[in-house]
Amino acid sequence: MRIAMIGSGYVGLVSGACFADFGHVVTCVDKDAAKVAALRDGKVPIYEPGLPELVATNIHAGRLSFVIDMAEAVAEADAVFIAVGTPSRRGDGHADLSYVYEVAAEIAPFIQGFTVVVTKSTVPIGTGDEVERIIRAKRPDADVAVVSNPEFLREGAAIEDFKRPDRIVVGTEDERARAVMTEVYRPLYLNRAPILFTARRTSELIKYASNAFLATKITFINEIADLCESVGADVQDVARGIGLDNRIGGKFLHAGPGYGGSCFPKDTLALIKTGQDAGTPLRIVEVVAASNDYRKRTMARKIIMACNGSVRGKKIAILGLTFKPNTDDMRESPALTIITVLQDGGGAVIAYDPQGVEQARQLLSDVTFAHDPYSCAEGADAVVIMTEWNEFRALDFTRLRNAMRGDVLVDLRNVYNAELAAQYGFAYTSVGRNATASLKTEIKAAE
Ligand code: UGA
Repeated sequence: MRIAMIGSGYVGLVSGACFADFGHVVTCVDKDAAKVAALRDGKVPIYEPGLPELVATNIHAGRLSFVIDMAEAVAEADAVFIAVGTPSRRGDGHADLSYVYEVAAEIAPFIQGFTVVVTKSTVPIGTGDEVERIIRAKRPDADVAVVSNPEFLREGAAIEDFKRPDRIVVGTEDERARAVMTEVYRPLYLNRAPILFTARRTSELIKYASNAFLATKITFINEIADLCESVGADVQDVARGIGLDNRIGGKFLHAGPGYGGSCFPKDTLALIKTGQDAGTPLRIVEVVAASNDYRKRTMARKIIMACNGSVRGKKIAILGLTFKPNTDDMRESPALTIITVLQDGGGAVIAYDPQGVEQARQLLSDVTFAHDPYSCAEGADAVVIMTEWNEFRALDFTRLRNAMRGDVLVDLRNVYNAELAAQYGFAYTSVGRNATASLKTEIKAAE
């Protein structure tokens, strides 16, 4: 199969490289000349484990190339994938589809022979209809089918997710398009990945419903974590206890500082807008988004309370800035709000992140950046584990404690436990688990 991938951002690049690795001939198109030049040299502009190697191997094998001009790539393609950004539109939270529609108009003149146009970008329900309308208006003669094929890639695990997906969703009512998409994903049949064919609008909704459901799961366990703290229960045990029920499932039940990233916040907002516009409000998702937003401030308060109620004049060391590990992505990271609240409270913030510093510099002001966890903790009154990078899972506690001025350790990802932290002299706070400690104190006080 010959594939044209329009947009060499995160999704386009991962999908293009993986399709090439399956044996398809893939041309990635991007308007950014500097990016295309860098990619041709095998330089990948984002941090995604395994991606540089995959890109280099497939360029070398002659299956993956990068171009600025789309004409030839589109003309030769059996399938043209649209993988450009759909950011939140300023003001109303709707997904901004201008890039998607621009691409639809741009590819139209070059389409030759039967061509499947596939939207991989996350797009609201009905976008496929509009893409088709735009192409048909420009090229009434074109033999084209517009298909929805949402991506379910997690940053940091995107290649694994692409090659071993739980499912592939294809939205089309066109038999020939179905045959082309079956061929595109045939290499995955060896892994027995289920391929679900649906109507186009249904497929578009599956993507939003998936992200909204996952965001709901996280928000649910975060609220249960708060309850655990109030009533003396342990959220990790609760998550395990409910997750062992196959109907619930154990994944996405890690309590923490709230979800972030480029997808959940944006997609929940877009789905809420779609529901409101359709006269079918999605009340659960509305509450999820509000609860998650509020949580970031609650987490800042948790840190302040751990510092005896005030961070004024105190030095707070933050370990981890990105919205999750194995990415350099700072978009909607809880760290952004939490750090700002700490600074507003008079705290001085020093931070370390294995990959996110470059992006963080552009989004945060008055933050000092350290080169490793221990220099970050130097002279700090409190250390906060914000993101669960592997590098923070086996910290040298003696070294960390000795570097600090104070003894406060706030673990927003529940990487450690109170007993271990106490052995090294830390005053330890985590999420939904310190209840036992406070309950013991309460019981003692009552005695
Ligand atoms: C998410 C989905 O997981 C992908 O399936 C989807 O394709 C993608 O959005 C997208 O729409 O493009 P991603 O945003 O990369 O992927 O990251 P996740 O691993 O889902 O994590 C999202 C956020 O939830 C992170 O801030 C993470 O720390 C948080 N999270 C996740 C929790 O707080 N607890 C959990 O149990 C799981």
